[in-house]
Amino acid sequence: MALIEVENVTKIFGPAPKRALERYRAGLSKEALLAETGHTLGLADVSLSIEKGEIFVVMGLSGSGKSTLIRHINRLIDPTAGRIMVDGVNVLEMSNRALERFRRTTMSMVFQRFGLMPHRTVLQNVGYGLAVRGVRQAARDAKAMEWIETVGLSGYENQYPTQLSGGMQQRVGLARALATDAEILLMDEAFSALDPLIRSQMQDQLIALQAKLGKTVVFITHDLDEALRLGDHIAILKDGRLSQVGRPHEILLNPADDYVAEFVRDVNRARVLTVEVVMKPPQARLTGENMQRALDEMRRVGARYGYIVEGERYRGVTSAARLEEAVSGAGGNSQTLYDVAETGPTLAADDALETALPAALETEYPLPVVGDAGQLMGVVSPSEMSTVLAPPKANGAPLASRPDDERLAS
Ligand SMILES: Nc1ncnc2c1ncn2[C@@H]1O[C@H](COP(=O)(O)OP(=O)(O)OP(=O)(O)O)[C@@H](O)[C@H]1O
Ligand SMILES: [Mg+2]
Repeated sequence: MALIEVENVTKIFGPAPKRALERYRAGLSKEALLAETGHTLGLADVSLSIEKGEIFVVMGLSGSGKSTLIRHINRLIDPTAGRIMVDGVNVLEMSNRALERFRRTTMSMVFQRFGLMPHRTVLQNVGYGLAVRGVRQAARDAKAMEWIETVGLSGYENQYPTQLSGGMQQRVGLARALATDAEILLMDEAFSALDPLIRSQMQDQLIALQAKLGKTVVFITHDLDEALRLGDHIAILKDGRLSQVGRPHEILLNPADDYVAEFVRDVNRARVLTVEVVMKPPQARLTGENMQRALDEMRRVGARYGYIVEGERYRGVTSAARLEEAVSGAGGNSQTLYDVAETGPTLAADDALETALPAALETEYPLPVVGDAGQLMGVVSPSEMSTVLAPPKANGAPLASRPDDERLAS
């Protein structure tokens, strides 16, 4: 089971939400609901699964329900309908004490508008989460200072929030959330007030932190580049409704509707998509040293090129023509398959297509993708790359039926 399960959550803001809910369920749109009843639809029947240890990004235009969604997870907001499970516990059924403990230890939140305490210093703000957990002052200050340094605010620890710029206040909020060691981080536009350089550094740090500590991060942004860079999964909200959830490449290659297509239209796909997305098994994978057997295998499958592996290790590539020559040639009898293996450029699965493309265009055979242990993971051809680099289309594009999508989605 996923760490966080949001199940059919609907949120209606206003004095009589239950009655408005009936009206909404009878078919009123968000606008009509507001006009007719004065109630605002915040979320509409949203279901999501967030896995332990992933960065889950929520995107959408202003007013689409992002903050409303994240605030349900730590129950700053109660849903009008539906339920939220965290680590198998229904947060709606928690007692006040359990909820308090849960907010203090399991989750920490970075608020969109920083949420700092104005009468406390930067140091006290950052150490606050630790203070309520009963961590002693010396230990707390040491830890808080570490995070203050990490977010680049050394020297400001004794200042008050109002003495800082917006971006600096945002970093204080970030340091405070990170200092608590909570397993789940809820980050509502946590990087939005930062300038591009610091923003990019903070993104790197979040990725590194998450890889090292395995935290689960729910991250809200309306910056698609940030979403693509950070997200293991991305959910896209429109008017409180979920338009699409998927891995970054799925969102890019198969936008579910025009709204999502509009979001991804200007993305530099060559920079975002990786070799893994277009990798296929080689047509001929040649094992053993015997050239005649290798040639027979290539003929059987009709392959022009064969990829030679010894055990799991990739040894090189050869062509049917080359093998024919070697098999029929005089003196070729002492040669093995390994002697005709040609080594050339190889790719890594996480190479961006942008970096992979030049090498792929230079070789006449599909390029081998080799893993950390030297194993052959698959091959990539330039034509495969150009297919995914073509401009995106909404729903129903031929890309939707690419046969390897299932494998990639797993
Ligand atoms: N406390 C509230 N009372 C009434 N309506 C609310 C309240 N909070 C949110 N809403 C409404 O719910 C909808 C979603 O708001 P929300 O703040 O979740 O959007 P958002 O996606 O976070 O937007 P932004 O990018 O501007 O932060 C909006 O239509 C908003 O007017
Ligand atoms: Mg918001």
